[in-house]
Formats: sequence, C-alpha cells, structure tokens
Amino acid sequence: MFTIRHYEKLGSTNDEARRLAEQGAPHGTVVHADEQTAGRGRLARAWYSPPGNLYLSILLRLDTPPARLGELSLLTALAVADTVDALLPRQIRASLKWPNDVLVDGGKIAGILLEHANAAIIIGVGLNVLHAPHNAAYKTTTIVGSKGMASVDSARDLLLKAVGAHLAVWLSEGFAPIRAAWLARAHPIGTPMRAAMGNHIAEGQFAGLDDDGVLLLDTAEGRKRVVAGDIAAG
Ligand code: BTN
Repeated sequence: MFTIRHYEKLGSTNDEARRLAEQGAPHGTVVHADEQTAGRGRLARAWYSPPGNLYLSILLRLDTPPARLGELSLLTALAVADTVDALLPRQIRASLKWPNDVLVDGGKIAGILLEHANAAIIIGVGLNVLHAPHNAAYKTTTIVGSKGMASVDSARDLLLKAVGAHLAVWLSEGFAPIRAAWLARAHPIGTPMRAAMGNHIAEGQFAGLDDDGVLLLDTAEGRKRVVAGDIAAG
C-alpha cells in the first residue's frame, strides 16, 4: 500500500511530503531521506537528523475529521513501538508515553510529527537507529545503543508494515482496539503525571485514555481531559 520515494538529503521529509501533497501525490506516498538539514519536531523544536537514523513521512488521504487525528498519532506510536521491539533483544521492550513518545529504558528513541496539509495527513517519524542528540532536554537512546541491530531500510520496512496493519484495524474496527493496545504498553494507571499546557500546569495521576485518545488525569480538582501538552510521567 506504500510507494517509497527515497532521497539522500532533504530539509524535512514532512515539508517534502507537503509539497508532494500539493501536487496531488496519492494516498500511501512515503518520503524517506537519509538525512535532514531542517528536521522539525513538536512545539517548533529542531529534530536532530544526521545520516544513520530513519526519517520518513507518510502521506495519507483519508476522510478523517480533524478531531480524530489524535487517534492516528497514537496509532503511529504503537507501530513505532512494534518496530522497535522487533529490532531489540527479546527482553527489552519499548513503552509509550502520551501522546506519542516511544521510550526504551526511559530514553526517547523516536519522535512523531503529525500534520495536515492540502486535504492530506502527513505522519512524520524519526527513529534513532545509530545516533541520538546528547544535548536534548530529555533522556534519549538509539536502537544500537539499546543492544539492537538494524539497517535503516529494514527499520523503515518494519515500520511501514506495522503502520499498514494498525491502519487496517483502525479503518475496519475503529479506535477501540488501538486504544487498548496503546494502553497495554503505556505507563500503568495511577502513575504520577504533570502536564504543561502553555502557562497552565495540571498535576495528578494517569487515569487512562478517553474514547477519543485524549489523556485523562485525576487531579485534586477531579478528572481532567488533557488535549495537548508536554507531559512528564513517573
Ligand atoms: C518530536 O518532537 O518528538 C517529533 C519529531 C519528528 C521528527 C520526524 S523526522 C521525519 C519527519 N520530518 C521532520 O521534519 N520531522 C519528522
């Protein structure tokens, strides 16, 4: 279901996917670059993108209402976690932190940036295979640094297979099975959490996901829905 367009170097695969979307590129187009010179992360941060890691963007044309895009973000995190598990020794497992952080031993191993462009959805994924930034504000890790083995192309092929499989479930059965699979890999219910939303900070215990994938936090003022924010857990 995917058609891969491979590039040695791009500014950002998400930007190239957006450009292709404007030219009418079809559902399933994948932009893969060996390196990015202007890789972008969430909250307008830069994404460290030297050769040796996976950088790709998947262009989807689905009739998805904007309110359901968060579900695709959680679905992608699940697919990335499956991919990481397939590349690491059996005893080491990836875990998920809302909304779409994929962690190995508490270190961030991948990032997901979902954007909407010209009636297309663009899902950007960066997976640290060989390199991770040392100066990030959070702990980072890589496949190789976690005792795994992978070529970038094998990681890409596994990821696309996992995204395709989860997408098929999502389209036929809806979000419920994705939500359940996501929760099974996430921090346990009751984990202390802090959500920073601009100047506002909510603190409480993780209470799961709402039916639409929104984070539920039990705070001193009662249960809150957290739609977006920077999350610290544990
Ligand atoms: C995050 O901040 O966690 C999200 C990082 C997303 C990085 C990927 S790399 C491929 C794609 N192209 C980009 O410019 N960003 C995404």
